[in-house]
Amino acid sequence: MSVIQEHARIVSNEPVADGLFIVRLHSPQIAAQCQPAQFVHTRCGDGIDPLLLRPFSMLTADREAGTLDILYQVVGRGTELLKNRRAGDEIMQLGPLGKTFSVPPNQANLLMVGGGIGIAPLVFLAELMIPKGYTVTLLAGARTAARHLPAEHLPPAVEYVLATDDGSAGHHGPVTDLIADYYLWSDAVYVCGPWPMLTAIDAAYQARLWGWNSKKPIQVSLENQMGCAMGVCLGCVVTTPQGYQRVCRDGPVFSLGDLHQEVVSRPGVGSH
Ligand SMILES: Cc1cc2nc3c(=O)[nH]c(=O)nc-3n(C[C@H](O)[C@H](O)[C@H](O)COP(=O)(O)OP(=O)(O)OC[C@H]3O[C@@H](n4cnc5c(N)ncnc54)[C@H](O)[C@@H]3O)c2cc1C
Ligand code: FES
Repeated sequence: MSVIQEHARIVSNEPVADGLFIVRLHSPQIAAQCQPAQFVHTRCGDGIDPLLLRPFSMLTADREAGTLDILYQVVGRGTELLKNRRAGDEIMQLGPLGKTFSVPPNQANLLMVGGGIGIAPLVFLAELMIPKGYTVTLLAGARTAARHLPAEHLPPAVEYVLATDDGSAGHHGPVTDLIADYYLWSDAVYVCGPWPMLTAIDAAYQARLWGWNSKKPIQVSLENQMGCAMGVCLGCVVTTPQGYQRVCRDGPVFSLGDLHQEVVSRPGVGSH
């Protein structure tokens, strides 16, 4: 599938939680094709500052209306500029880029684990799978209650289970603590979040902490920093048993098993 360059029009750009915003873009060509975990590479400002585009996965897409939503957290220059864009502004973006998740063919129990804004591609996956008869439990971790995506942005049929670092909502502790309660029930597991969360999941998976002899495949969508997003600069590579893989072209979805070496090489990596 070829990459589309599209000048998207901002329909709305609103705060939805502490430091989290949803921008709705009229971007009919990309909205018609994009799949969960694929991403758009977006020019956040109205000039060439910052020079590099920024990658964002889709929270949802309305193919009939020709719109897609991006859930974003303000962390630096690009997202700060994006926050200040207004309805009617145009934004250039490339997409859809990268690969999507694979899903078991029969109606199945899907367990999703999201850390921070990592929840976005999981919500999109849930939205597409629930009408097909899949059951979805989404475990979501955030620092505090105010940083959680409000449930109104999820399909109502999703079981939405919260964890917070400070205990202000749901489980008091890392979201990874909750996986043991759902792992054996699930037929497939989908993960997106910061590296420390992946480290915890990888360690538990390697140790089979969630059930003896139940090492089922876990798919992880990575959110590495990117340069070109076209597979050229090699700024996004991860080490896998198949050699270096580019997150932008070969991912962003990988099997957790293939990421073990990369995960253990990133001790103490920071998150946002
Ligand atoms: C496939 C993919 C999907 C993504 N989806 C989303 C999404 O749906 N919503 C969203 O808010 N963000 C998403 N991101 C992350 C997003 O691209 C970055 O937050 C954004 O590029 C930051 O740009 P900035 O100019 O605001 O920050 P910068 O000024 O570039 O950086 C600010 C600080 O954040 C750190 N940082 C920047 N990018 C990352 C990163 N990817 N991982 C860890 N630290 C980082 C920098 O090191 C720096 O400390 C995604 C990334 C990828 C690769
Ligand atoms: S960002 Fe350039 S190769 Fe992936």
